[in-house]
Amino acid sequence: MSLFKRIGNKDNAPAAEPAAVNGGNAQAPKAVPAAAATSAAPATAGAAPPPVAETDAAILPETVGIPENRTDPPIGTEKVKKLVEMSLWIVDRIQSTLGTQSELKRTPETEQMLQERFAQYYRQVGGNLSDEEVKFLFRLVYDEILGFGPLQQLIDSDGISEIMVNCPNRIYIEQKGKLKVAPVVFANNDHVLKVIDRIIRPLGRRIDRKWPLVDARLPDGSRVNAVIPPCAIDGPNITIRKFSKNKLKVDDLIRYGSMTPPMAMFLEACVVSRRNIIISGGTGSGKTTLINVLSNFIPAKERVVTIEDSAELQLIQDHVIRLEAKPADVDGTGKVAIRDLVINALRMRPERIIIGECRGGETLDLLQAMNTGHDGSMSTLHSNSPREAVGRIETMCMMAGMDLPLIVIRKQIASSIHMIVQQSRLDDGQRKVTYITEIQGMEGDVVVQQDIFKLEIIGKNPEGKILCEHRPTGVRPKFTPKLEAAGYKLPPEVFGAAIPGKR
Ligand SMILES: Nc1ncnc2c1ncn2[C@@H]1O[C@H](COP(=O)(O)OP(=O)(O)O)[C@@H](O)[C@H]1O
Ligand SMILES: [Mg+2]
Repeated sequence: MSLFKRIGNKDNAPAAEPAAVNGGNAQAPKAVPAAAATSAAPATAGAAPPPVAETDAAILPETVGIPENRTDPPIGTEKVKKLVEMSLWIVDRIQSTLGTQSELKRTPETEQMLQERFAQYYRQVGGNLSDEEVKFLFRLVYDEILGFGPLQQLIDSDGISEIMVNCPNRIYIEQKGKLKVAPVVFANNDHVLKVIDRIIRPLGRRIDRKWPLVDARLPDGSRVNAVIPPCAIDGPNITIRKFSKNKLKVDDLIRYGSMTPPMAMFLEACVVSRRNIIISGGTGSGKTTLINVLSNFIPAKERVVTIEDSAELQLIQDHVIRLEAKPADVDGTGKVAIRDLVINALRMRPERIIIGECRGGETLDLLQAMNTGHDGSMSTLHSNSPREAVGRIETMCMMAGMDLPLIVIRKQIASSIHMIVQQSRLDDGQRKVTYITEIQGMEGDVVVQQDIFKLEIIGKNPEGKILCEHRPTGVRPKFTPKLEAAGYKLPPEVFGAAIPGKR
């Protein structure tokens, strides 16, 4: 708890910030003039400027202006840091006037009220900021009181998919597949801790020196992980994987070139005809997106149970039961693992089971379910190729602790999984389906795989974009009769066999 000694301690914490700006001058009075010195004004003359990382100035100008929906002109980090410190000082003052009515809601009335109080204190701090800076300052104040501080504007920006706080003045974001330095910073480590606390407190989670790791979710469903000292050596850090409200649809994947229309048609046929499918890929390669797209091909009348670590799937069908694993409580008990849910799901009369991601022993239970009347089940796993995926499945099945011989596990894989779809993020950021591979059975002690589609890399254009093409291999899957039985008579062109002269 000692890490949080300043959190929630409104009397001491923010008032200390302006003092820090004054070069750590402990004598700085709590009164207004100390804060006035925080504005990048002549008033700071004689006061040591706050330390700013050397590279900031170089990186920031081009990234400022994000979030995309804002048009603020560039504000360098040194300035941003001062504005953040100023905002904490104002927040402290405003909060002391709010008294017990701390449960404010984000309404136009609240905004109006905060704006009035902000104006009052801002005037005391000194008004030599540009209009844009004042707007930015108010946004910081507003987000500090009603949101997750400097992170809120990054969370609000649709263009940003990941937010990574490495240390107070170094926040990275992923925007359109590219990593950048964010245009905001925290004032100090305590400020980061305060925001972590604000994220996890409503969920009844805790983080402290004894257990310095936590997983949580933002109200919008975004996944949050935080690590604090002593495990985080350089100070508390936060990683946020944003929940994308607008999940990509199959048409988007085609438009982005992630797959071709024949591949989409084939995948749809596979899902409807109840093929068991594993989606393999690296972190952030688009596995969850793809399993979501594929699960939306499931006919509406079928009963589906989804099992996830943290709910991300958005099935459009009515007959869906969503289950989510649960971490252990503070006393270390009460954990409900994915595996427990899979075993339980089998008693829920599911027609299909969808596991968000297999990471361990639950894989064996899934294979057994696939083999025993739950054809059409799906999951994702972390691996870089369909070949590697089979090895990974073997390893995860062994984690179930049943002491099965490898050959038995392989037979189980060969008889239960019909197809592996490989999703990859190419070096230039493009996300593509790189293989659709059929599992055909066993030959000796080997699981036989046959690629049906694959991505051929052709080269790179002068801008560094990878040029590539999806091609059918010309081989029809052995399970073609199943597709036909489900009403999908796919023309030979889909598999590339009957186009004479075409590569
Ligand atoms: N085919 C695609 N084309 C472009 N962006 C994609 C594609 N698939 C996923 N994304 C985006 O990539 C990010 C990571 O996707 P996600 O499905 O969560 O990956 P994973 O589950 O493999 O970690 C998301 O922001 C998602 O919108
Ligand atoms: Mg995922």
